[in-house]
Amino acid sequence: MQQSEIKILFIGDIVGRPGRNASKKLIPELVAEHGIDFVVANGENLASGTGMTFKTYAEMTEAGVDYFTSGNHIWKNKDIIEHLDDSTTKIIRPLNYPAEAPGRGFTIVEKDKKKFLLVNAQGRVFIHDDLEDPFTALDRIANENTDIPIIVDFHAEATSEKIALGRYLDGKVAAVVGTHTHVQTADETIFPGGTGYITDVGMVGPINSVLGVEKEIIIEKFLTQLPASHKVASGEVNFSAVVISIDPEKKICSSILRINSKVNLSA
Ligand SMILES: [Fe+2]
Ligand SMILES: [Fe+2]
Repeated sequence: MQQSEIKILFIGDIVGRPGRNASKKLIPELVAEHGIDFVVANGENLASGTGMTFKTYAEMTEAGVDYFTSGNHIWKNKDIIEHLDDSTTKIIRPLNYPAEAPGRGFTIVEKDKKKFLLVNAQGRVFIHDDLEDPFTALDRIANENTDIPIIVDFHAEATSEKIALGRYLDGKVAAVVGTHTHVQTADETIFPGGTGYITDVGMVGPINSVLGVEKEIIIEKFLTQLPASHKVASGEVNFSAVVISIDPEKKICSSILRINSKVNLSA
């Protein structure tokens, strides 16, 4: 019997309370509209715009997120770091940090006889050049897991590094979804080998901001070059995500649909 497609709603970096509230509002609608099997979200900005807390993590799993990927900001709150080694905590951190770092870089996500391998990796260009080469690290994971579809969250800054990685893994993984820049790119595609790809899925965060943070703070930082604490902005929220359909037998992408919606939380 032919297995039915796996449909994943992959949500970009959820920023603070406005991001959480907009996600809570849209997740049930999108799950129903697209027949979603799994909801994955990048959670590195979940709590006050930077890092996660166990409370915000629990709030969002309750709201329907099945698993969280993360990135460079996952290390911000001790509160969540101590949970990363607990196999019941549904969060992965980038794979290519040293093995001594807390947490794990990949996991099998499974529900109703459908499953896929979720992997998180972090780029090195303009972000963290001391990490293990993500190309080699992900290639190793792909070669060791040929029996299951693989979804990669590549948390990276440079578009060149992201596109190169997507093309490098073409045919070996079902999808490579870029995160970290908080700005959605309109280049979603399926590469010739069958890998679904987008350079950056974007964020779920306030529009009148700089990447979700109050714009005045970031502008002042550029003008003065002085450090400043960040505060999540308010107002209308941009909800950015992709819906990825996977052929479970061929373990490749059959469609990738970009979602970019405005959410007015006061309405
Ligand atoms: Fe982020
Ligand atoms: Fe990041």
